[in-house]
Amino acid sequence: MSSISGKTKICGIIGDPIEHTMSPAMHNAAFGALDLDYIYLPFRVRREELKGAMNGMRALNIAGLNVTIPHKSDVIPLLNKLDPLAGRMGAVNTIVNEDGKLTGDNTDAPGFLRALRSKGVEPDGKKIVILGAGGAAKGISFILAGAGASLVILNRTLSRAEELASQIASYYGRKLTAMTLSEKNLKHTLDGADVLVNTTSVGMVPDVGQTPVPSGLLKPDMTVFDIVYNPRETRLLREAKAAGARTIDGLDMLVWQGALAFEKWTGREAPFEIMKGAAVKALGHER
Ligand code: ATR
Repeated sequence: MSSISGKTKICGIIGDPIEHTMSPAMHNAAFGALDLDYIYLPFRVRREELKGAMNGMRALNIAGLNVTIPHKSDVIPLLNKLDPLAGRMGAVNTIVNEDGKLTGDNTDAPGFLRALRSKGVEPDGKKIVILGAGGAAKGISFILAGAGASLVILNRTLSRAEELASQIASYYGRKLTAMTLSEKNLKHTLDGADVLVNTTSVGMVPDVGQTPVPSGLLKPDMTVFDIVYNPRETRLLREAKAAGARTIDGLDMLVWQGALAFEKWTGREAPFEIMKGAAVKALGHER
């Protein structure tokens, strides 16, 4: 964004709270780099104002919005159209406005897949162990199963892992294993695993001394992906690196989800490295 004119297109993010978002930094850097006449703004929207915000998006002709906590599922009935993957996730993180018709999309799980592939890891035919069974695990598990991976889901609460495994099994018609997240089950499932994905909040600020996996179970031929991005290097990633494993951090997923949203709004290829640089800087300011 060089200067605002009568033609400037408006994008933004809605959520509550919103003060800590890194998305304005990423998107405004990208608009600037490509010299696009767009601006990206944060909007704090309370739950009870969500319907008004969607009508406001139409009335004010806001071109695109990201959606974050707590609105990702509540926004769905307020839209005109829904991408099938977002529908299956039950979560929308990106809205595109075409002449007042709002389409909901989800770039979180596709962002995860791009981050994985951009590091040279193709999930097709791989054994992937997923820790956690919350909202993030759901998107990631669906997209990995769709990409041909064989999955094992481990969660502290077994019933949630079983519920997620059965949803995926019934959608893809393929069996997958659900287990309690315990050292014994980790030892068993990590044997022969190609990729380990942590979607739990274990190791996130302020609990930076915690890890979901004992270091002795990490192996050099594994890829370890931790979707936590604060800190960027969690204890799990530090120990995985020390064990000789390939590591991918949560910032890559965050930046790819932003890059994919940017492409939906602008029709242009996102400048990934510029967006990542802006996100790294914004994360530094958070500390
Ligand atoms: P998100 O949308 O980020 O996935 P979530 O739906 O709240 O967030 O899910 C958080 C995940 O982290 C869950 O899998 C949770 O396990 P439970 O289903 O048993 O609650 C997991 N989690 C959170 N704290 C944990 C801890 N201390 N040990 C193990 N797992 C934990």
